[in-house]
Amino acid sequence: MTALQLLFYICAALLFQLTIGIGLAAWRWRRNVTSPTTLPFEAGAREQTVAWPGLRDFRVLRRQFEDALLTQCSFHLVPVDGVALPPFRAGQFLTFALDIPQPAGGASRAITRCYSVSDAPRPDAYRITVKRVPSPPNRPELPPGIASNHLHDRVQEGDLLRVRAPSGRFFIDAETEVPAVFIAGGIGITPMMSMLGWCLEKQPGRVLHLYYGLRHGGEHAFKASLEALAAQHPALQLNVVYSQPGPGDVLGRDHQHAGYVDVALLRQTLPHDRHAFYICGPPPMMASLIPGLIEWGIAPQDIHHEAFGPASLAPVQAAAGEAATVIATAVDIQFRRSGRTLMWDGQDASLLDFAERHGVAVESGCRSGSCGSCETAILSGTVRYAVKPDHDVAPGRCLLCVGTPSSALVLDA
Ligand SMILES: Cc1cc2nc3c(=O)[nH]c(=O)nc-3n(C[C@H](O)[C@H](O)[C@H](O)COP(=O)(O)OP(=O)(O)OC[C@H]3O[C@@H](n4cnc5c(N)ncnc54)[C@H](O)[C@@H]3O)c2cc1C
Ligand code: FES
Repeated sequence: MTALQLLFYICAALLFQLTIGIGLAAWRWRRNVTSPTTLPFEAGAREQTVAWPGLRDFRVLRRQFEDALLTQCSFHLVPVDGVALPPFRAGQFLTFALDIPQPAGGASRAITRCYSVSDAPRPDAYRITVKRVPSPPNRPELPPGIASNHLHDRVQEGDLLRVRAPSGRFFIDAETEVPAVFIAGGIGITPMMSMLGWCLEKQPGRVLHLYYGLRHGGEHAFKASLEALAAQHPALQLNVVYSQPGPGDVLGRDHQHAGYVDVALLRQTLPHDRHAFYICGPPPMMASLIPGLIEWGIAPQDIHHEAFGPASLAPVQAAAGEAATVIATAVDIQFRRSGRTLMWDGQDASLLDFAERHGVAVESGCRSGSCGSCETAILSGTVRYAVKPDHDVAPGRCLLCVGTPSSALVLDA
């Protein structure tokens, strides 16, 4: 064999190896992106699990009201492609891209909304539970909630919904069996149903306390299933608290306490021990509970919480004394695509509020840093967050809903 032939064979072998290597890497990447079923349900990572890119079609298999007043409706969703669902962390939410028909037959309006999965992770279906949102009682002239009313009134069994993969950082910590205290106010019960279901199945010995605050029995969702779970699992302590019990509501039968879920009740009823707290409820409940728990001596890392809407809650760190600072000096914010340059004057809580106040059209969903709908490229300048958002923000991009400028900005919006 000549030296030239030898060189040829070496080059051919190297080329072959390179081709195999690239092919293997591409296959692994594709498998991770498109075939999440290969991931184990119990993957130990604490990160968000993004299981499919973009939107996926789901069919509404079943609808079911969960309360006597028919204000909370569950939707059981199955993937149209029939591929098994990827793993997710109990407590996470789905993001829905809804096309909402406008009255008078105008073009439909695209709306993004998040809904927590309301049962334990399973490979074939998701369940969400949506509360119908009326006009605010003191502003009857305002329209009722767009997405919740659309889902209640128009989305029927057999209909399709476009859904982003589960995400969010409010989920049960699977690496500990420290007694868990789930505190739900109203529709804040949904992520708790998922976490409870997961714990009872995967950590049957774990002590669980559910505090569920409601006004009265009419809005008591999942009543029969919660009572059945508590009867079946002695490790689950049910504490249902009605603030305005109705004439038919019986203390000791329908609810265990009258009043509110507050720190006084927790101190009275919880054993003196370490607990992991998971809280989701309306702003007044969370605004009093979280600082109250910290004052009681609960470590901030044992308090996990989620707000179902606009940044309705001071973050735990702020409650613990670390003040959130918002830049107050005047800086220019340029929305490049909209062709608008406006002066930030520190009046708004976020760049999203600022954009909307000035009529600049920007995408939004959760308005609390969780869903990524408002993620926008920063062409120049810097953005700060009072606390790290739940959604992982890509480099060079920002979340308008929880960000404020820390310099002049040019945004691709
Ligand atoms: C992570 C996450 C998880 C969630 N999980 C759930 C869940 O499991 N179940 C659930 O039911 N919800 C959940 N939500 C809340 C849900 O995403 C929606 O915010 C909720 O359904 C209300 O949306 P809507 O479009 O119906 O109301 P919107 O149209 O957003 O209206 C909200 C309220 O604002 C009022 N309003 C309308 N116009 C104005 C105006 N001009 N000025 C002032 N007020 C006005 C409306 O009357 C209504 O009372 C979750 C939210 C997040 C962020
Ligand atoms: S609107 Fe959801 S992250 Fe900003």
